Amino acid sequence: MMLRQVPESTVADSAEPFARRVLLRFEGGLNKIFGNDLNPMYHLGALGFYFFWIIAVSGAYLYGFYRTGAELSYPSLEYISKEQWYFGGILRSLHRYASDALVVVMVLHMLREFILGRYRGARWFSWITGVPVIWLIYASGINGYLMPWDKLAQFATVATMEWFEWLPIFDGPLSQSFVSQEAVNDRFFSLISFSHATFPLFALFFIWVHILRISNPVINPRRGLALGVLLAMLVLALVKPAISQGPADMGIEPRNIGIDWFYLFIYPLLDVWSEGYVWAFVAGLSLLLSVLPWLSPGLKQIPVAEVSLRNCNGCGHCVADCPYEAVVMRPRTDGKRFMEQAEVIPDRCVSCGICAGACPFSTPFRSDAGYVSGIEMPSMPMAGLRAAMADDLAKLKGEARVMVFGCDNAANIGELRSEGVAVMSLPCIAMLPPSFIEYALRDHQVDGVFITGCRENDCYHRLGVQWIEQRLTAEREPRLRGRAKHERIRQFWAASADSAGLAMELESFRSGLPSMAKAKVPLETAERK
Ligand code: HEM
Ligand code: SF4
Ligand code: SF4
Repeated sequence: MMLRQVPESTVADSAEPFARRVLLRFEGGLNKIFGNDLNPMYHLGALGFYFFWIIAVSGAYLYGFYRTGAELSYPSLEYISKEQWYFGGILRSLHRYASDALVVVMVLHMLREFILGRYRGARWFSWITGVPVIWLIYASGINGYLMPWDKLAQFATVATMEWFEWLPIFDGPLSQSFVSQEAVNDRFFSLISFSHATFPLFALFFIWVHILRISNPVINPRRGLALGVLLAMLVLALVKPAISQGPADMGIEPRNIGIDWFYLFIYPLLDVWSEGYVWAFVAGLSLLLSVLPWLSPGLKQIPVAEVSLRNCNGCGHCVADCPYEAVVMRPRTDGKRFMEQAEVIPDRCVSCGICAGACPFSTPFRSDAGYVSGIEMPSMPMAGLRAAMADDLAKLKGEARVMVFGCDNAANIGELRSEGVAVMSLPCIAMLPPSFIEYALRDHQVDGVFITGCRENDCYHRLGVQWIEQRLTAEREPRLRGRAKHERIRQFWAASADSAGLAMELESFRSGLPSMAKAKVPLETAERK
């Protein structure tokens, strides 16, 4: 049996890390303003892509007019800003502001994944491939500031050369090549304009690798968010256009230059610290980020998903639903008449159980007490879940008996347990096969079923909430069958910070159940769809 390290629990309790609590409250506030669909914090990766494309398109236009050379670069960009302010100038500003925005969303995205613990265990891959992206984006941005060959470019070039000179691999003083205007030759401009096109291409390559191990990655922000952000940048471009800071003159040391703190913070740092310290800072930070997924405490070992060929008909639902590309279909090996069989890639499996919730063989309507599904979580087999649920349901009392299904990574449903409420928490709410809902409502075992999990668009396992919603509305297999009466089922999505709202919602649901009984709302309809 293959074991996988997963976080002990990310659920809110008194030990919930402070940063996570603050983040969830902050995002809850943004949800009130923007709604879950347009909350930028839920679309940071997609916004990263969006800004990248804006930079690429505006950059391609700027390249069309850019001239390389100490005497040519500055006037060529001045022409764009002044003579073509209504188009080229606006594109130049968009290029700069989208670059700043890219750094902001990239850093927020990284911090968020870290705070929410979505970077360790089998999820290390996206983290590690994100680290080179940071440096490539920085290299592209700093390089971009050299292109106009203004006073800022002059300052940044000399400071960079001095910084690099500290490294023993450079034997001569590099900055001396730039002490005179004549020394800044065409080769230098060819080099920076070539690098300014290739660094972003490398960054794009790593971003592509970055999302290789996650299925259905969200790479486009919602339309409303994309338009809002573009509009804000256009207004900024008109109010405060991006301009150069006077032509470079190697004979005069530049003074009072404005710094873009998003990209160029390293230069003020070089004023305060020695070159060696700044190198140590950069190397130390890179090393720390590179080993972070393996440094975190609070990981436990649990077995990864396992396929039982005897019960697999090769339908592929598990492959479609796994958020981490951890299940693949292979040609059949056991001689059965089906073409294919499912196979788990253990190194990628995070033990979320979503595949087990997707498998048609997980249905509790099976006669065998120890039945096995096509794909199972060995630590939480479906037969065990059915038995545990049946035990709990038998003990419920009152006229508003409810079965609550929840998720280990969202609001803690343990607190909801009472005489009339049974709870079952799963590694992800999408581990729940919809047939379990029908099973609970069958024979009047409960009066209602309440389903909860992470906030919408913020599922800890990426797609779990989306999949269960689609299964309940019969848009996705396995579907909730028509037999279950939808009035008897309530969904409410709640992070740990929303526990109070969750409890209120459950009470409101329960308070409506007795009147449904009086109105004789059935638990099931007669026909199966
Ligand atoms: C411009 C740079 C970046 C872009 C465009 C980007 C984009 C994305 C996208 C689209 C996703 C998938 C979101 C989803 O659908 O669930 C993602 C996930 C992720 N990214 Fe990035 N990313 C960038 C930089 C980084 C960096 C610098 C790091 C950290 C070093 C990072 C760490 C992660 C992690 C840990 C995940 C989650 C993987 C999982 O859910 O298992 N990303 N990123
Ligand atoms: S869906 Fe199944 S195979 Fe995929 S990560 Fe979750 S438990 Fe593993
Ligand atoms: S969902 Fe179940 S039956 Fe379908 S391929 Fe996966 S393991 Fe096999």
